[in-house]
Amino acid sequence: MLKRFDTLYGIDLGTSNTVIYQHGKGIVLREPSVVAIRQDSGEMVAAGTEAQAMIGRTPGNIDIIYPLMDGVIANFDITSAMLQHFIKKIQGRAPWFRSSQVYISVPCGITNVQKRAVEETMVHKGAKKAVAVEEPLAAALGAGLPVDQPIGSLVLDIGGGASQVAVLSLGGIVVSHTVRRAGMSLDQDIIEYVKKTYNLAIGERTAEEIKKQIGSVVERQKDKAIDIKGRDLIDGLPRSLRLTSGEIFGLMDDFLATILDAIRVTLEHCPPELAGDVVERGILLCGGGSLLHGLVERIQAETSVPVHLAAEPQDCTALGAGMMIDFKREGWSRGNAIAGRNAGVQAEEEPLRQDA
Ligand SMILES: Nc1ncnc2c1ncn2[C@@H]1O[C@H](COP(=O)(O)OP(=O)(O)O)[C@@H](O)[C@H]1O
Ligand SMILES: [Mg+2]
Repeated sequence: MLKRFDTLYGIDLGTSNTVIYQHGKGIVLREPSVVAIRQDSGEMVAAGTEAQAMIGRTPGNIDIIYPLMDGVIANFDITSAMLQHFIKKIQGRAPWFRSSQVYISVPCGITNVQKRAVEETMVHKGAKKAVAVEEPLAAALGAGLPVDQPIGSLVLDIGGGASQVAVLSLGGIVVSHTVRRAGMSLDQDIIEYVKKTYNLAIGERTAEEIKKQIGSVVERQKDKAIDIKGRDLIDGLPRSLRLTSGEIFGLMDDFLATILDAIRVTLEHCPPELAGDVVERGILLCGGGSLLHGLVERIQAETSVPVHLAAEPQDCTALGAGMMIDFKREGWSRGNAIAGRNAGVQAEEEPLRQDA
């Protein structure tokens, strides 16, 4: 139960970004889920934004690691160290409040053992209670969908490493389908295209910038252009280049087809009543990848189902995770549907203090 002085956190541990919501304060942290590790000692040199700035610029003895690659926790120790770093950052000098409760949204692909381990890490760091929650449920709740009602809602979350489609009803996931095609794979497609077409090697961050600025799944009325820099693959020298939206337009078709297929597969496995609700009420789009230009219109056109973009597509999961406590407090079936399946980990004795 939430006591009056309990601090409540909702954490979205995403493959690309970690977002932390604090009850009463709003979003208190938004950083990339990336760390820089020294090869010889395994020591963490930097995490988050600082580590991101190092991508493509590290000396040979430092590795850049996305510990949550492809929607699973690829490296648990590093994930845990990164989380600790973020928690320390939002707390400043204050210790991890003994009376804090943490609801943490974890990627869909992780195992129950890993879920438990995430909860235990939080409690070990001093949280009174930690509960791992399912990502689509948190996203839908944060976006204001009536997930507790006997009504089908479809959520399409396009993240960095994976895209997930889920149909929710009565506080639970009825069917879901995940594909390992999301924001980062588009960046890779762009890298490949520039390499093949112009013999120019570009980095991941440049590719992401191209995608954000001129990428689109609908033809733009007015062509947009971006100037980029890379390394010529023939003479090895730096070279710049102007890319236009028109020329990379077709590049996103394959990605779109994968997403549409994931929606179709999910609806096929969905009980007819709920599928009917979805067709009527529409699809909720969230995650950073949903900001790709034209995606909402295009999915709507291809599926003939109304598509809505979440009000805060990159924050709704953290927000929803923070709202899970209300589900628990109300206690009936919807609370049980969530809490019953996963009661979380509770500190047994005095919670440990965070290291100074
Ligand atoms: N304006 C934009 N247009 C297209 N893609 C975007 C935009 N903003 C962010 N993204 C992409 O969103 C992805 C990250 O989304 P996010 O929901 O934070 O991922 P995750 O849940 O996996 O951490 C990245 O691949 C990023 O490039
Ligand atoms: Mg996410």
